[in-house]
Amino acid sequence: MTDAPILFFDSGIGGLTVLREARVLMPGRRFVYVADDAAFPYGNWEEAALQEHIAGVFGRLLERHRPAISVIACNTASTLAIADLRQRFPKELFVGTVPAIKPAAERTRSGLVSVLATPGTVKRQYTRDLIRQWASKCHVRLVGSVNLAALAEAYMRDGFVDEAVVKTEITPCFMERDGGRTDIVVLACTHYPFLVNRMRKTAPWPVDWIDPAEAIARRALSLLPPDGVAEPSHGDDVAIFTSGRPNPATRRLMHGFGLTVEG
Ligand code: DGL
Repeated sequence: MTDAPILFFDSGIGGLTVLREARVLMPGRRFVYVADDAAFPYGNWEEAALQEHIAGVFGRLLERHRPAISVIACNTASTLAIADLRQRFPKELFVGTVPAIKPAAERTRSGLVSVLATPGTVKRQYTRDLIRQWASKCHVRLVGSVNLAALAEAYMRDGFVDEAVVKTEITPCFMERDGGRTDIVVLACTHYPFLVNRMRKTAPWPVDWIDPAEAIARRALSLLPPDGVAEPSHGDDVAIFTSGRPNPATRRLMHGFGLTVEG
């Protein structure tokens, strides 16, 4: 069995929502989790600058960790940079995380779907193309939230979030039209599943909240050669913060996810 790790990449802690699914599916694998917290949040970056930044960070990560596969556990990064990364590093395997618009279009009964994401993901041509390709018969509302990713970070770190603020952020997702109403909200930022219980609680009516984490983990598994011995790996998984200085609460969170913080 190869010891090459699976590399997870996000701007912050959001990718942990995908990592926890991958751990269940691939208990014998080693994981390296990278939070580009020096550049958080990605949602507000200008596109060309962010693409260049991600390519630079990845060049160094690939060289150092030689992963079996890299999971870009971030919609804001994937919708912008996945094609560029594949082109720059043609020998590497990448799995991206992009808004789950296809499953939403297949599942909706009312035809009213909302995509809750960062302002960056909402702006992307990639996201518009997904809607054109898979959801042309639906009414899709793109809702860009400036605050939710940071709220999810704070919630996971401090254990508290102001529900009124969550409610304000999600309210634009709920539409009523011709007697129908929104029945699906796509969580198109990997940070958001951490807040889904608060979203459920403050939503004006029940909807399906689509979290693609398991599907992404399955996709990664399907691209890897079988890992032979399925012995769980113990204690070898690390978390790397590009700032070099995650605060104590973030360190504790990483330990809770079975990751040793480097540095
Ligand atoms: N977790 C990231 C995503 O899936 C974005 C958070 C950020 O704004 O950096 O889009």
